[in-house]
Amino acid sequence: MKLTKTVEAAVKAALKTRKNSYSPYSDFKVGAALKLKGVDHAVTGTNVENASYGGTVCAERAAVFRAVAEHGRIRPEFLVVATTEKKATVPCAICLQVLAEFCSDSMPVYLANESGVQRQLKFQDLLPEPFRSFEVK
Ligand code: THU
Repeated sequence: MKLTKTVEAAVKAALKTRKNSYSPYSDFKVGAALKLKGVDHAVTGTNVENASYGGTVCAERAAVFRAVAEHGRIRPEFLVVATTEKKATVPCAICLQVLAEFCSDSMPVYLANESGVQRQLKFQDLLPEPFRSFEVK
């Protein structure tokens, strides 16, 4: 798959951040990188688990929350999700709902593992009918 330098850098960042995952309960490490329009580097996140399992936050949501904390109003350009799974992992439904608040239907989502990007989708492929109070352009 032909990727831009920006996407390649974000995949690298997601894979690197994945290594910081705090996942002693599932041992399932996920890295995410959210590239924002107008910001050079992608904002990364990783999953952080909790002894009270419901307190766990996925990598994708961690990246979104960090992006908002760092940049205020965010305009996502693309998302990378990285695991070491042979079959690349898609964001969970809770993360998709959180992403829907900020991401356009056409935003590219790259699903990667250590061999690189395995699939490229659009956000709307993953969540065709988001629950939103407004349209994200
Ligand atoms: N997880 C993510 O970080 N992103 C996803 O899209 C799916 C699941 C995390 C949550 C939990 O820490 C572990 O993976 C196993 O579900």
